[in-house]
Amino acid sequence: MFCVGNNTYFSLFYSIVNILGIETSCDETSAAVIRDCRIKSNIISSQLVHRQYGGIVPELASRAHQQLIVPIVEEALHEAETKKSELDGIAVTYGPGLIGALLVGLNFAKSMAYGLKIPFVGINHMEAHIYANFIDEPTPNYPFLCLIVSGGHTQLVRVNAPLNHTLLGETLDDAAGEAYDKVGKMLGLGFPGGPVIDNLAREGDPEFVKFPRSYLDEDTFEFSFSGIKTSVLYWLRNNKIHFTNQITKIAESRETTNKKLQTDMEEPSTNNRQLLTNLCASFQAAVVDVLIGKLLSASDKFSIKDIAVAGGVSANSELRKRLTDSARERGLRVFFPKTEYCTDNGAMIAKLGEMKFNAGISSSVELTAIPYLQL
Ligand code: KG4
Ligand code: ZN
Repeated sequence: MFCVGNNTYFSLFYSIVNILGIETSCDETSAAVIRDCRIKSNIISSQLVHRQYGGIVPELASRAHQQLIVPIVEEALHEAETKKSELDGIAVTYGPGLIGALLVGLNFAKSMAYGLKIPFVGINHMEAHIYANFIDEPTPNYPFLCLIVSGGHTQLVRVNAPLNHTLLGETLDDAAGEAYDKVGKMLGLGFPGGPVIDNLAREGDPEFVKFPRSYLDEDTFEFSFSGIKTSVLYWLRNNKIHFTNQITKIAESRETTNKKLQTDMEEPSTNNRQLLTNLCASFQAAVVDVLIGKLLSASDKFSIKDIAVAGGVSANSELRKRLTDSARERGLRVFFPKTEYCTDNGAMIAKLGEMKFNAGISSSVELTAIPYLQL
């Protein structure tokens, strides 16, 4: 047995078949089982406690993980019809993320692996997002480009070979998902704003306001989303629009009849659904233009024909549709994980854990949580 950095390399005397993946880096407590390259269960519990605060409260996240970790792991094992004693290894996120949240999952995984006398491996959450694209067939060929767009990160990566990548560029300020969430808050859409904006934007006019496309024409793979976000804020201020608590109204109107929708539209201008959908569509058009523009120019520059997207924002319907269309026109192959593997989930941790174990990599008990872990 020998160690390099945080990783212990060991010789395998038995094959790694059943792997438990655990994810607790932010506000999702998740556990999954992968067996012989197939996901057998993927249990995700999203913490609703943060919604009333309009963002994630780290201390509440740690406490909720602490309460949920045992039942979520039990449920993942039960659904996969796997006994603890049948596990061959445990994979767990050790960064980046909230320190208290990471520590819950990491310490749980270490103790469980110790008790079961099986290896565990620490997983970089951002790297796991990339390999969510390898859970289902078809998978990208190496080298490929991967755009990771989540609540905390926006990174463009060249994946050279399995477990080997080069960071080409990342956001200099807000992540794309963060901009969605902050704009969602400005529009009274609750937290997280991404999925709600995505839904409302389908009904709106993307050309209603021309929000800036930061760095789009520059020869760099860096991103910036705070300018788009601030432009939405100034547009609302200049037009004296103040949106409050639209989310209940939208939720209600989805469940009720057209009559109710009609009533919403007759309300004063601040509650004007058309205005709301137009702003959502215009904001989304600016974000999606930048993401697709950067990805396509990297594909041109490096002559790479396989491109993948990962992270929570890769669930976005407009991004998926427009990138698929652009890729088809240019003869590129585009890959998105299934939507349940886009936002944080244990399956991607189990998948990357399987790849690491099969490459002979595991971690030592000294591994600690690293909130700012880099790719
Ligand atoms: O990957 P993820 O679950 O957590 C992090 O690692 O950050 O990403 C969460 C982010 C949130 O900002 C959320 O608003 C965004 O993904 N998101 C979306 C959509 N679904 C989730 N953004 C745009 N459109 C969506 N459909
Ligand atoms: Zn994530």
